[in-house]
Amino acid sequence: MISDETQTEQRPPQGDTGTKTVFIKSYGCQMNVYDSQRMADTLTAAGYVETSEAHNADLVILNTCHIREKAAEKVYSELGRLRVARDERRRAGGDMQIAVAGCVAQAEGAEILRRAPVVDLVVGPQTYHRLPDLLAKAGQRQKPVDTEFPVEDKFTVLPAPKRAATLARGPSAFVTVQEGCDKFCTFCVVPYTRGAETSRPVAGIVAEVERLAAAGVREISLLGQNVNAYHGEGPDGRDWTLGMLLHRLARIEPVTRLRYTTSHPLDMDDSLIEAHRDLPALMPFLHLPVQSGSDRILDVMNRKHTAADYLRLIGRIRAARPDMAFSSDFIVGFPGETEEDFAATLRLIEEVSYVSAYSFKYSPRPGTPGAGMDDQVEESVKARRLARLQALTEGQQKAFNQASIGRTMAVLFDRKGRRPGQIAGRSPFLQAVQVEADEALIGAVAPVEITAMGAWSLHGILAGTPTREAVA
Ligand code: 5AD
Ligand code: SF4
Repeated sequence: MISDETQTEQRPPQGDTGTKTVFIKSYGCQMNVYDSQRMADTLTAAGYVETSEAHNADLVILNTCHIREKAAEKVYSELGRLRVARDERRRAGGDMQIAVAGCVAQAEGAEILRRAPVVDLVVGPQTYHRLPDLLAKAGQRQKPVDTEFPVEDKFTVLPAPKRAATLARGPSAFVTVQEGCDKFCTFCVVPYTRGAETSRPVAGIVAEVERLAAAGVREISLLGQNVNAYHGEGPDGRDWTLGMLLHRLARIEPVTRLRYTTSHPLDMDDSLIEAHRDLPALMPFLHLPVQSGSDRILDVMNRKHTAADYLRLIGRIRAARPDMAFSSDFIVGFPGETEEDFAATLRLIEEVSYVSAYSFKYSPRPGTPGAGMDDQVEESVKARRLARLQALTEGQQKAFNQASIGRTMAVLFDRKGRRPGQIAGRSPFLQAVQVEADEALIGAVAPVEITAMGAWSLHGILAGTPTREAVA
């Protein structure tokens, strides 16, 4: 799931106290949000304090996304704005270091310095634990570029977040367990930017989740570009599957909710489907991208399964967990996509009925096989198809939300609400829910009766005793 940009922390800007301030902006997927937090932890340990405003920062890091052209181009417009902010700080006798991190850094490396000379430092996703050293070099008038895939495991050298930082990030946390991808879908840059599939050993993940749980985190979302291909070393020395890992994490109290994203249909093995049957903490919501409903397009995309395979898989997961809700990513206008191919995608959507969906016009990415294919689809055709597809998926989402009215669902409250006196949280199906209740309930799970559907979220009333411990 790739969303719009996010900031890592919301802390008040710091005055000129002599302490260095850092502002980190994340683009793209949740893994970048997690990486931004780990960069913040690294820099906090090196004496930095986070600020929520770029123009107040001694160091600005853009943690970038390369998945589609639009996402990658955003970085350069932001760098233009930062140049103005840096020049202003210089005129006032200060300065600002500017770093580009993430997938654009990995993909473009030193090219970024040529296109945007304002940048002081380029760091790829595998080496952000080296940030303090790289910053020291950048301070000596060098412009370091580090896009290595090093032998050392960054997870074992990164400092753990301080308890206060964990609490400030709320009761729902991301934990990266897997990185990279070996699937080579023909539209996708990930296998090139994030490299081959690697999985973290079970022990490090368990220790991280235990620490988060002790600090008050109640929901863990396991992250990976291909998370269900997880095969990390278990305590018994054998490779564990994601299903085995989830069984282990479900024993950590008082974590009440587990999720994982993003999955490939080919890697939904029996142990994972059984985990959905056996673990109440594993939420009945699965993001399972299919991209297209046309077998011909799925084949050219190198997805290695048919639409019927996908539908059978959905059926097996629903048999294991009948209330399971699904979301997916879709690409319209992949090279060669005809009206019939597109109609097959709409049929598949009708058949599954998604509770949410992310859909994109195909964007040819340099270096991927799709970019060189004949029969590129015209932008206007892509736009028309996208609008039709989104009308269908938005209708399904609305129908699901409408059907929630009158139901009582467990909501994990994770933040203040839109209006004073309200708090907000998520249902098991990731629906946003607003309730009139005391802020003290943030971090707790409570039964909520859904009473109405607003434009952005559901509304409800407390319908039972909140708990910070029990599985919900
Ligand atoms: N063009 C459009 N969408 C893309 N995605 C990945 N690469 C491209 C591309 N080149 C979408 C896929 C993927 C999601 C993260 O982004 O749907 O699942
Ligand atoms: Fe990209 Fe396909 Fe790998 Fe997903 S499975 S990250 S879409 S190559």
